[in-house]
Order: sequence, then C-alpha cells, then structure tokens
Amino acid sequence: MADRKAQLTIEGLDAPIDLPIYSGTAGPEVIDVRDLVKSGYFTYDPGFVSTASCESGITFIDGANGILLHRGYPIDQLADHSNFTEMAYLLLEGELPNDEQYEDFNSRIRNHTMVHEQIANFFKGFRRDAHPMAVMCGVAGALSAFYHDSLDITKEYDREVSAIRLIAKMPTLAAMCYKYNIGQPFMYPRNDLDYAENFLYMMFGNPCEEFKVNPVMAKAMDRIFMLHADHEQNASTSTVRLAGSTGANPFACVSAGIAALWGPAHGGANEAVLNMLAEIGDESEENIQRYVDRAKDKNDPFRLMGFGHRVYRNFDPRAKVMKETCDEVLSELGMGDDPRLKIAKRLEEIALEDDYFIERKLYPNVDFYSGIILKALGVPTNMFTVIFAVARTIGWVSHWNEMIANGVRIGRPRQLYTGYTQRDYPSQG
Ligand code: CMC
Repeated sequence: MADRKAQLTIEGLDAPIDLPIYSGTAGPEVIDVRDLVKSGYFTYDPGFVSTASCESGITFIDGANGILLHRGYPIDQLADHSNFTEMAYLLLEGELPNDEQYEDFNSRIRNHTMVHEQIANFFKGFRRDAHPMAVMCGVAGALSAFYHDSLDITKEYDREVSAIRLIAKMPTLAAMCYKYNIGQPFMYPRNDLDYAENFLYMMFGNPCEEFKVNPVMAKAMDRIFMLHADHEQNASTSTVRLAGSTGANPFACVSAGIAALWGPAHGGANEAVLNMLAEIGDESEENIQRYVDRAKDKNDPFRLMGFGHRVYRNFDPRAKVMKETCDEVLSELGMGDDPRLKIAKRLEEIALEDDYFIERKLYPNVDFYSGIILKALGVPTNMFTVIFAVARTIGWVSHWNEMIANGVRIGRPRQLYTGYTQRDYPSQG
C-alpha cells in the first residue's frame, strides 16, 4: 500500500526514521506515523489540522475547490436529483439503490419510525423549557435500553437493524422534543408519508384536525436533510467514531455525536446565525457594517456565525445549494421580503468584499442560510440543531458501521505533557 516513503531526520538521532506514504483515490497523500512511538516520539496536532484519523470511502471534500462528494457523487447533483432516503442508502450501502432495493430500504425505515411507549416517560422527566438538544442527547442514548436484541456489534445484521432504527426514529424523537416543549400531545408517525413529510406531520400536526403536508415545505425539509447528511471526519462524526472504537453500542455513540454537534462552532451555528440576525435587527448599512467590524475585532468575542470552515477555503458547496433553496422557498411561501434574509444577504456581500474575510478565506457555510429556511417553515430556533442531528444520523451510523466492519483499534490519543513532574505529597503535621 505504501507508494513512497518520507524520512524524518531528528537532531541527535543516528539515522532518519522511515515513514510510509500512502495515496488515497483523491486528496492529499498521508504519512503513516504509527511507528514513530517506537522511536520515542509522538506527533503533535491539536485540533487535528493535519491529521487523517482513519481510512474511509464514504465522503470526500476538496476544500480548496469547494467540492463535496458522497460515494463519488457531487452534492449539488444529489440535491437536484435524489432524495434523503435514497442518499441514506447510498451513504450506508455504498451504491445508489435499484428500484427494488429502494422500496425495501424505504419500507424498512417507514416501519421503524415508532418509538417504544416507555420513551414518552423519559420526556416527562425533563423541564418543558429544556433545550431540545439536551433532551435529544438523553433520549437517543436511552434507545439502547430498548433494543438489547440487536446490540451485538460484531454481527452485520445487528448493525444494520440498529442503523435503520436510528435513521427511522430520530425524526420521531425530534418532533417529540418540540411537542413536549409546547405542551401538545405527541403525534404517532404515519408510515404512508415519506421521511420529510412524516417529520413535518409529527411536528405541526395535531390530533384535532386533518393535517396536509405542504409539498414546498416537504421538499425544502428533504433538501435540508440531504445537505446535512454527512461531512467526512467532522467533530461529531469523529466523536461517534472515537466512542464506537471502544465497542460502545451505536445508540450511545450517536448520543455522543449529538453532544458534539451542539456546540456553536459546529451544528449549533445554525441556531447562532438566527440569534445573530435577530440581534443585528436593523437592516441599515451602518448597523450591518458595525457587526462586520465587531467580527474583525480581536478584542471582541463576536464572530460572524455561519461564516468560515476548517476545510472549505473557497466556498461551501452546501451553502450554494442552501442559498438557492432559501430564495426558492421564501418566494414560494410569499416571504421574499423577510428582513432576516435581507440582512443575511447584505452581511454576506459586505463580508465577501472585506479584506479580513478575503485574506482568511472565510465564506458562508451550510448554516448561514439553513436557519432562514427553517424559520420560514415555522421551526423554532432552538430546534435547528436538532434537525441537523436528525440529518447527520445517517452520516454517523455510516461511519460507525464502516469502522466496525473494517476492524478498529481503540482510539487513544497521547499528549504533550506540560504539568508538574513527579513531586512528593506534603508531609502532615
Ligand atoms: N468570524 C470572524 N472571524 C473568523 C470567523 C468568523 N466566523 N471564522 C474564523 N475567523 C478568523 C479567526 O479569528 C482566525 O483569524 P486569525 O488568523 O487572525 O487568528 C482565522 O479566521 C482562522 O480561523 P480559525 O478559528 O483558526 O479556524 P478554524 O478552522 O479553527 O475554525 C470554524 C473553523 C468553523 C470553527 C470558525 O470559522 C467559526 O467559528 N465559524 C463560526 C461558527 C460556524 O459558522 N460554524 C459552522 C461550521 S460549518 C457546519 C458545521 O461544521 O457544523
């Protein structure tokens, strides 16, 4: 597998250390440093800026050119021609399904949407005003207490059943979070509806009247799910992999992923964008400029939320599709004049012409426009990251399954220790 080798010369060492170099099918070559420890050295890369943590064949990102491929297919083509369920199959199984495979997969997901009645009791333990991400961490992890029958992760069949259960039940749990928060009864899923329709039905339907899902809204929701489905080794996926490397069950691993996603530097950014747009409030040029100036000021913690990305240094291809979807949805819902959209667009224009953002290659990311769409669909701000978690579940379980199927060693990073060296406990008296 090693095509070439790198040589690491270290002052004081007699001979250089040989390190194999591997080539993937795309992306930078990697230097295998696993044997470095035998020479008494660790590599040091806080934030994993230059570290490939695993081998994977699921998703590829070329950050310099704004390319995102799932199993080789560009995200914009998938967004135009596929749907979330088909994409979920693609991510999990590696190929697009034929008609029969699609029907089978779709029907398995539809038939696993209901959660155990006891789950409802978990909700009652939470305050009604609890942040729904706090509730999601708890109830997603709690699923492992209900499915002992399929927790042998060494069995391919058990892994598949758990994956289907997670993909199918996450929208149900997400909608339950919302219903609990507003004091309405939980809605049972409807298996005649597709993935996005069913989610909207469980969110916005109620037992007192018939609920018709608006097709514009269902298409927009499906697209939001697709654009958030996977993103190679991001913080939450890496968390799921690390937790999974210990042999923990997939429900527990996904719960860890939800916790990692919650932070504002990651999935929590969509909620933070809307809060930022609300704070900016006034559409005037001077006011928007004032916030851009604050984002540039190193003494001010304010950052432009929904801007910047560790990997994308040109544009985020998801943001491009998201912006188009935002324009389409708002105009179809007759909300093209939404003041938040106006502020967001002007903010983007000002920032993209500003040297600070140009030099640092900071562009709008997927979260910049997604919140405006979700708001237009009637989703409250504190549910935005929950929706991201619903969508990212397929990415999490696909990576977890790939890792377990290929065999995994426990993830155990080391450190550059800068604390006290050994010292004696103070003598008493
Ligand atoms: N506003 C103002 N300055 C920024 C921003 C921003 N949003 N993002 C980065 N910078 C500056 C940063 O201060 C630094 O400047 P300098 O070189 O002068 O110190 C430079 O740009 C590089 O930033 P960094 O923090 O070293 O970059 P990173 O790769 O460690 O962080 C990031 C990436 C996404 C966490 C960061 O850009 C950020 O905090 N963005 C806002 C939050 C956000 O939108 N997150 C969603 C990411 S996409 C979806 C997802 O992953 O879930």
